[in-house]
Amino acid sequence: MSSPTAPAVAPATPSTRDVAIEAVDLVKRFGDFTAVDGVSFTVPQGSVLGLLGPNGAGKTTTVRMMTTLSPPTSGTARVAGYDVIEQPDMVRRSMGLTGQAATVDEILTGRENLRMIGGLYGIGRKDLTRRSEQLLEQFSLSDAGDKQVKSYSGGMRRRLDLAVSLLAAPPVLFLDEPTTGLDPRSRTELWDVLRDLVREGTTLLLTTQYLEEADHLADKIVVIDKGAIIAEGTSLQLKEQAGAASLVLTVSDPADIPAAEALLRKTGGEVFIDEGARKLTTAADGLADLTRVVGWFDESGIAVDDLGLARPSLDDVFLSLTGHRAEDETSTEEEQNA
Ligand SMILES: Nc1ncnc2c1ncn2[C@@H]1O[C@H](COP(=O)(O)OP(=O)(O)OP(=O)(O)O)[C@@H](O)[C@H]1O
Ligand SMILES: [Mg+2]
Repeated sequence: MSSPTAPAVAPATPSTRDVAIEAVDLVKRFGDFTAVDGVSFTVPQGSVLGLLGPNGAGKTTTVRMMTTLSPPTSGTARVAGYDVIEQPDMVRRSMGLTGQAATVDEILTGRENLRMIGGLYGIGRKDLTRRSEQLLEQFSLSDAGDKQVKSYSGGMRRRLDLAVSLLAAPPVLFLDEPTTGLDPRSRTELWDVLRDLVREGTTLLLTTQYLEEADHLADKIVVIDKGAIIAEGTSLQLKEQAGAASLVLTVSDPADIPAAEALLRKTGGEVFIDEGARKLTTAADGLADLTRVVGWFDESGIAVDDLGLARPSLDDVFLSLTGHRAEDETSTEEEQNA
């Protein structure tokens, strides 16, 4: 355990061989404020867990405890079978972490950043050169490798961050909001890279505020709010809990709202009305419902500006699970963020 060079890491106990990451009743208090309130979950080897929640939910605090950066107030976590409290060195050798804020040095080039961090890991010169070039290639940074990081786009920085955290080829990777702030193209590019890693056997825990991201990447999603798990399951299961899809209709003339409401009621569900936006919403089973509704409105002669199916957003999941919208968070609590 005190050996300075990183050995190939084997799981600590046979019973935990198939579980790569485990949170065991994690609690974190800051003074009398409880940021994480008894969080438990397991992540099987080679799978992806998405930790989904709004600002201030406790995602970063959970990741910090699981990556030995912050001691739990109570509870513990195991990474590759090693306990974060009892065996922090072994945990660190088994994992990579890409934090929420970029950790790479702006003044250095991409290549220099990889060399520097690799040097800190104690990777030999020849191996380090080979590994650095391989990662730059994998993350489409070969050409930009000799440019200073301060000239990189947000997407390039995130990719370099990820490359740096993969230098030691860790079997377990923690990513804290890897795509926040990225444009849609950079985001899907990064998703591709992450999927490749998982295909090669890496276990991934990623935090995100986007259901769509968890949807694309995660085998299982754990939703946290105010430090506690409020739901878990596959993305499909969560969406079903949130009420599948909804049908959203905008009438051209506000005077038609009552008539439109009467028509939509024929679907059998409750109709929500936003008068100002001339918008009516109701639960829908899918395209079949949409087609029926289009027919009714055609016959009725009510002019419609817009009609479509909306998939549930993280917001809808929250609303259905907690009865409050994700963005209400800061207004209902004292400002926690300094
Ligand atoms: N060192 C600290 N001292 C006091 N409070 C803290 C500290 N770190 C985090 N908190 C509080 O704990 C709560 C959870 O914070 P955390 O950073 O884990 O949320 P998050 O889910 O990562 O949010 P975001 O999506 O904004 O990154 C917040 O209310 C935050 O203000
Ligand atoms: Mg965070």
